[in-house]
Amino acid sequence: MKKRLMAICSAAMITFMALPVSSETSDLTSNNGGVKSLRGQVEISAINKSEMLKRVPRDQPLIDRNYVQQPPMIPHTTRGYHVNLNVNKCLSCHSFKNAGEMGATKVSVTHFQARDGMTLSDVSPRRYFCLQCHVTQVAAKPLVENSFQPVKSLQ
Ligand code: HEC
Ligand code: HEC
Repeated sequence: MKKRLMAICSAAMITFMALPVSSETSDLTSNNGGVKSLRGQVEISAINKSEMLKRVPRDQPLIDRNYVQQPPMIPHTTRGYHVNLNVNKCLSCHSFKNAGEMGATKVSVTHFQARDGMTLSDVSPRRYFCLQCHVTQVAAKPLVENSFQPVKSLQ
């Protein structure tokens, strides 16, 4: 009885060890608990090369809005403009205090409102990271077709 059990065990072990495991598969699944992506067992960089960074124009005229509550798009480059705990480069031109002198648009009064609707004396933390909502624009080929039309009153 014992002998037979041993035989079965070793047969199972040999079969298991002989299973073909390609090095690519084991690399990709070794750290993720065997989760498989819908695209299959390929690195995303192998099938989808990353785009080159677009060259944002240094300065362009203000960009029309497409709907009333749209965060206006940024008509200038923002490379190297830091926004962190210590500095907010955007506010060095767009704050109420500096906007006049810098010739920039003041941040909207809505940016002083806290979550509960109270108006604060400075830009609300939820509006601190400007690039969360405001983005630069370049003339690039659209990634997907888009038939969006601005509302009539803004056309
Ligand atoms: C050196 C000063 C300066 C800095 C820094 C700066 N801006 Fe500007 N920004 C301007 C000026 C000037 C305009 C154009 C105003 C005009 O032509 O009426 C402008 C325009 C804009 C507009 C368009 C406003 C509108 O009504 O259409 C947005 C949005 C904006 N900036 C966002 C930002 C963000 C976000 C940052 C930080 C990443 C930033 N800016 C940093 C000077 C600056
Ligand atoms: C959560 C999204 C959000 C964030 C974060 C945000 N904005 Fe805005 N911003 C908007 C929206 C939406 C509008 C247009 C509607 C309004 O006035 O609130 C706007 C309007 C503006 C305008 C135009 C004001 C005018 O009178 O025409 C400026 C300038 C601006 N934002 C600058 C900034 C700067 C600088 C920061 C960072 C300190 C910032 N925004 C952060 C959403 C945002």
